[in-house]
Amino acid sequence: MVPAAGRGERLGPGAPKALRELGGVPLLVHAVRALARSRAVGLVVVAAPPEGVAEVTALLDSHGLDGKDVRVVAGGATRQESVRLGLAAIPQDVEIVLVHDAARPLVPVEVVDAVAAAVRAGAEAVVPAVPLADTVKRVEPQAAGAPEPVLDTPDRATLRAVQTPQGFRRRTLHEVHAKALAEESGGAAGGALPPVTDDAGLVERFGGQVFVVPGHEEAFKVTRPLDLVLAEAVLARRRASDGF
Ligand code: CTP
Ligand code: MG
Repeated sequence: MVPAAGRGERLGPGAPKALRELGGVPLLVHAVRALARSRAVGLVVVAAPPEGVAEVTALLDSHGLDGKDVRVVAGGATRQESVRLGLAAIPQDVEIVLVHDAARPLVPVEVVDAVAAAVRAGAEAVVPAVPLADTVKRVEPQAAGAPEPVLDTPDRATLRAVQTPQGFRRRTLHEVHAKALAEESGGAAGGALPPVTDDAGLVERFGGQVFVVPGHEEAFKVTRPLDLVLAEAVLARRRASDGF
């Protein structure tokens, strides 16, 4: 399942992020191809920008996707809603779902395979992640530009930067999304909880055990303009080494 309905505001003005090009091909096409390369993947459901469903369908039709079944649905106003809408389009008999950001076009197939294998081996939720290069500090956020008091510094050795695809038993993922929706619409004491920014976070919130497997530096997310520069460089390096 590929959430691709975001605007890409941090990337700056232009087309929705999933349709921005990398090496002449939209990020979304790279991301779907990266998943389709895995033998573990049989069906890819894409949550497109609501006004872009026809365009995205045509785009994916026109790019060869290794004979995998591809479906496009309209995404929602938040990533969480887009994933929920995408999940609804996945047949009940599918047991394992990988959720992969359209904004991570260069994830190596080894990462996709490793996540799928760990779920198959029995984990209900699996995320790929890498150690952090920077030291991280928790702060008391202030208005933009004002110095922020530091609260503490978590031990970097215990921290991981989490990527996608994140893998789940379909039933687990469906349940936590349904619970999150009920929590939101019921307004039930949800106000104080911090926002959940990934699917594994929902599993954690409702008491499930998430496992981390090794991610890859090339599975980084294209978020800001500099990330697109890096992605172009990684792609150029791959194309050069494929040439030999
Ligand atoms: N996403 C989505 N539906 C939304 C918001 C985000 O499907 N309403 C998807 C994005 O398309 C992206 C992934 O979630 O593939 C990760 O989100 P992010 O990197 O934050 O992308 P955007 O929300 O598009 O970027 P920004 O936050 O800078 O606007
Ligand atoms: Mg976003």
